[in-house]
Amino acid sequence: MTTRTEKATPVPYLDLPAQMRAIRSEVDAAIARTLENCSFCLGPDVARFEEEFAKYVGAKHCVAFNSGTSALHVAMLLLNVGAGDEVITTPFTFVATSWAISYVGAKPVYVDIDEATFNLDPKLVEKSITPRTKVVMPVHLYGHPADLDPLLGVCRKHKLPLVEDAAQAHGATYRGKIVGTFGEMSCFSFYPGKNLGAYGEGGGLATNNADYAARAKALRDHGSTKRYYHDEIGYNYRMEGIQGAVLAVKMKYIEKWTRERRRVAHRYNELLADTPLQLPKEADNAESAWHLYVVRHPRREELKKHLEANGVGCGLHYPVPLHLQKCYAHLGYKEGDFPVAEKAARECLSLPIYPEMTEEQIQRVAEVLQEFFKGQ
Ligand SMILES: Cc1ncc(COP(=O)(O)O)c(C=O)c1O
Repeated sequence: MTTRTEKATPVPYLDLPAQMRAIRSEVDAAIARTLENCSFCLGPDVARFEEEFAKYVGAKHCVAFNSGTSALHVAMLLLNVGAGDEVITTPFTFVATSWAISYVGAKPVYVDIDEATFNLDPKLVEKSITPRTKVVMPVHLYGHPADLDPLLGVCRKHKLPLVEDAAQAHGATYRGKIVGTFGEMSCFSFYPGKNLGAYGEGGGLATNNADYAARAKALRDHGSTKRYYHDEIGYNYRMEGIQGAVLAVKMKYIEKWTRERRRVAHRYNELLADTPLQLPKEADNAESAWHLYVVRHPRREELKKHLEANGVGCGLHYPVPLHLQKCYAHLGYKEGDFPVAEKAARECLSLPIYPEMTEEQIQRVAEVLQEFFKGQ
């Protein structure tokens, strides 16, 4: 541990260069192959990645996209969600979850979250179902699975499909099974900072339904299965060949990286146990993929300044819940509608977490946090 007289090395919030260094030669070779075969849009590298990712998730099909947002949009199209329909989801997530609903002209209907896991509270979902409800879309926020059994129970009772927004949850498990096949389909993001990140934008949709997969492939490619024949209005949502090549390399490491993230999270749990921080907890039937390690404290702003002043990076996920965002003012929600989400937005603080984090870095973060509370 660093003594007070030494100048401590800063701990970045995220360290993508560290991961890049470890796999650089493999990535260079994979990209060189893509350059040789000139398959820049979809192509064999993307097809290989789709196959490997589907196998990893345990799904029959994976369809690769140019972003997680596109995959979510297509998920709504596959379920024929449109104007006048409602989709039940969480107000405490990245905005893209709601974009998908808005893009098809439907209305996001928010339901408050569970205090412990930050995820959609299953107890509140049923009350929000109306004849217009078309889909229930939980998010596995920060990598922690939503409580799927009760959610699926409500969906079965009301004959509603469930779509998993698994953008942050590659490799998280619920009842011992990797998330991504609990609902009709699931959507992943491969944005660079995600647990499985491309070297640019990327996304994927996983499903066991061959019809959905076939239609998703057409929708991402201008609505066509045969060149220049367009069966329905489609999009240019194709994954780039280079991203498929990079992701196929990274697939070899995803299990190891998830284990390393767990190591970091468990060390934080030990080192911060005696602080007044509210630490993240895993539900008994779930294992988080630890995309983020989010602590809570009412003095979050001071804490953030203190960390940054001491060279420790941190993040806010998310400072404003979606029902209070300007872009959703027309939905008519107001402050106080979702008190648990609003409190989480005020108190949450994301600490650095990545597979390459060293024991010294973890200890340094803990030490800076402990200093904040000393004598209080
Ligand atoms: C929960 C959630 N949903 C959707 C997305 C959208 O993914 P992308 O950034 O790949 O479009 C993200 C990514 O930031 C996310 O965190």
